Amino acid sequence: MNPHPSPTTWRRLLGAALLAAALPALALDAQRPQVDASALAPQHGQWQADNPYRGDPRAAEIGRSAFNQACARCHGADADGHAAPAPDLRRLGRSCTRIADDALRQRCQRDVDHYFVSSVLKGKVKVGVVHMPAWDGVLEPELVWALRSFVESSGTPKGD
Ligand code: HEC
Repeated sequence: MNPHPSPTTWRRLLGAALLAAALPALALDAQRPQVDASALAPQHGQWQADNPYRGDPRAAEIGRSAFNQACARCHGADADGHAAPAPDLRRLGRSCTRIADDALRQRCQRDVDHYFVSSVLKGKVKVGVVHMPAWDGVLEPELVWALRSFVESSGTPKGD
């Protein structure tokens, strides 16, 4: 290597260093978390209307691991979102649990399931700004439902 880098070289090095420093902050790429979901009933690429793993503690545990790898940097470790920049996901569907009528409660949960899946697949983009990356083609149904199961089982949001 040249022991006396020219000003241009310095500028390039500085540019590369600044870019490298900015990347973790942006980090808007959607990557598949390293989790094994093979213990869960296979969905064969199909999206059911309701979470097929609702109430299954194995799905929640797999979802926890996936969440902490893929979602926690914005939504908080273990979905403890009250100190995180992105919304506290434990609030989603909270009101459904207060519905006594079984059929109505299921309909409420189905709406939330639908909203959860579409939020994850499409991401959140507003006037061209990516607030959350899209996970379509990255996360298979098994993992998205495991994430949903985890969030659903992860306790009460602050203030509730
Ligand atoms: C780069 C940061 C980031 C990552 C990573 C991220 N999200 Fe988000 N997410 C956001 C932000 C910001 C919003 C709110 C966007 C808005 O409504 O403007 C959001 C919204 C959501 C919503 C809708 C919440 C609501 O109350 O309306 C869901 C569901 C969601 N995210 C799930 C996930 C899941 C599951 C993962 C992991 C697979 C994930 N997110 C990863 C930033 C992120």
